[in-house]
Amino acid sequence: MKFDVITIFPEIFDFYFKHSIIKKAQKKGAIKIQVHNLRDFTSDKHKSVDDKPFGGGRGMVLKIEPIYKAVQFLKNQKLKIKNKKDKKTKVILFTPRGKKFNQKMATEFAKLDQVILICGRYEAIDERVAKYIADEKISIGDYVLMGGELPALVLMETVARLVPGVIEKSELLKERITKKKGFIEYPQYTRPELFEPQKDKKWRVPKVLLSGNHKKIEEWREKQSKIIE
Ligand code: ADE
Repeated sequence: MKFDVITIFPEIFDFYFKHSIIKKAQKKGAIKIQVHNLRDFTSDKHKSVDDKPFGGGRGMVLKIEPIYKAVQFLKNQKLKIKNKKDKKTKVILFTPRGKKFNQKMATEFAKLDQVILICGRYEAIDERVAKYIADEKISIGDYVLMGGELPALVLMETVARLVPGVIEKSELLKERITKKKGFIEYPQYTRPELFEPQKDKKWRVPKVLLSGNHKKIEEWREKQSKIIE
């Protein structure tokens, strides 16, 4: 599975990719991530990626041409996919006006061969990108960020961990147990059983987890869990 990110701030991604499971996953060859600088797809002397809005108004708008060129270039890239003639690609644009991202969408994206992620910046992005270029418009929540870089990281991590070979077997097992209902997240504890940060404060691990009674533990976890479908 390949992620192609289009951004005017490629350096935002460097640190994260060097220090996460994403790095390991790439080393193993389970996923591949390439970050592309939008400025490399401009054709003017100043490498301009934005311009003033038609109709007036403050701020600048990201232009459509460099984005179109970048997406065309990436769509035409040949991927090393076994036994496949056509690669399954989706172009995603991040915008607070998009569909709210969730686990179900991540599961669908994990089946693709290539995901092209367009990160907006500045005040706006020419609306024709949303209308004609993007297959999906996605928001990561009802709040406004400075751009699509953080949403792209959120999406890539969520999708990548669903790609076979990315996370360890023990983690996968946890998910398999609960497959009927979706992904279960329950509270976890480790030693010490009793933590006393101050004299009058005793913070204990729930007794049931120390009981050794697996059925009871399972029931407790089920009660406490959040199910993410
Ligand atoms: N760009 C700015 N805010 C955003 C959000 N909440 N989700 C996706 N893209 C964004």
